[in-house]
Amino acid sequence: MSATYRPRRSALYMPASNARALEKARSLACDVVILDLEDAVAPDAKETARSAAAKAVWDGGYGNRELVIRVNRLDTPWGIDDVHAAAAAGPAAILLPKVEGPAEVEHLALEMDKAGARPDVRIWCMIETPRGFLRIEDIAFAHNRLGCLVMGFADLVKDLRAEDTPDRAPLAYAMSRAVMTARAAGLDILDGMYPDFRDIAGLEAQAVQARQFGFDGKTLIHPGQIDTVNAVFAPSAEAVAHARAVVAAFTAARAAGKGVATLDGVMVESLHAEVAQRLVDIADAIAARG
Ligand code: COA
Ligand code: MG
Repeated sequence: MSATYRPRRSALYMPASNARALEKARSLACDVVILDLEDAVAPDAKETARSAAAKAVWDGGYGNRELVIRVNRLDTPWGIDDVHAAAAAGPAAILLPKVEGPAEVEHLALEMDKAGARPDVRIWCMIETPRGFLRIEDIAFAHNRLGCLVMGFADLVKDLRAEDTPDRAPLAYAMSRAVMTARAAGLDILDGMYPDFRDIAGLEAQAVQARQFGFDGKTLIHPGQIDTVNAVFAPSAEAVAHARAVVAAFTAARAAGKGVATLDGVMVESLHAEVAQRLVDIADAIAARG
């Protein structure tokens, strides 16, 4: 199994002010739990949500799910206190919304250091505005705590004055640019959420499209979305069996001093073996979660 692959197929948002949701998340099948202090929490509930998120991290009980706290932007009345509370509790990552430049990432990293955050607490950045997408490269390389980019396409569609079409053609440039950047910077990248949580067919189609673009997973807003997205972002049994055969064919060719192999009449080069090995690692990591 790969030591580095970490499944992030499904990342479920929940308002940190919603005690029932936080409790429920301890038994849900999502890979990531995002405790939100930002847009899902009303101004009056910000302080309660902050304490509840920190307490959830301290108390634990989330098994191998990664816990991420989405803080308010640092230029809001709550942002700095959110970061200090989150950093002290030590989640897997702090998610910063509406990032528009590297200075915001550096500022967050500085506040995390001041609050004594462990070195392994990562920074995840939401890219959801035209300015954010235009500076995504600078953001992605801004700090070595960065671990993941998270798309906020609902905000982007609004700001672009674009239309939210089912095929997401108006977003293709942003999606492609974002995945390209994540790969160049060695980061994971998660697709935006699908708000119509009763429409499972629509969710599935969008998740398949995200996977085709190269996304590692999708952000979600409702538990009913988890199984669909987990299945879309996990390799199928046939794909894994084929990948194992590709790796075996290439390994045998190498042992015989050859640079290429054939499998069922198709050429296998080292790039195919690499893709196949990654797929096997992903399948093993998912299976290890039980
Ligand atoms: N996380 C954890 N549990 C959730 C959940 C979530 N995001 N959304 C719903 N649930 C739970 C409910 O508490 C309920 O549990 P119960 O039946 O055991 O009491 C169950 O799932 C069914 O919920 P349902 O009645 O279908 O939904 P709702 O009408 O209560 O809530 C939303 C709908 C959209 C308000 C809710 O799903 C939500 O708050 N989602 C997250 C919003 C968010 O965080 N947005 C910010 C990022 S875009
Ligand atoms: Mg947003």
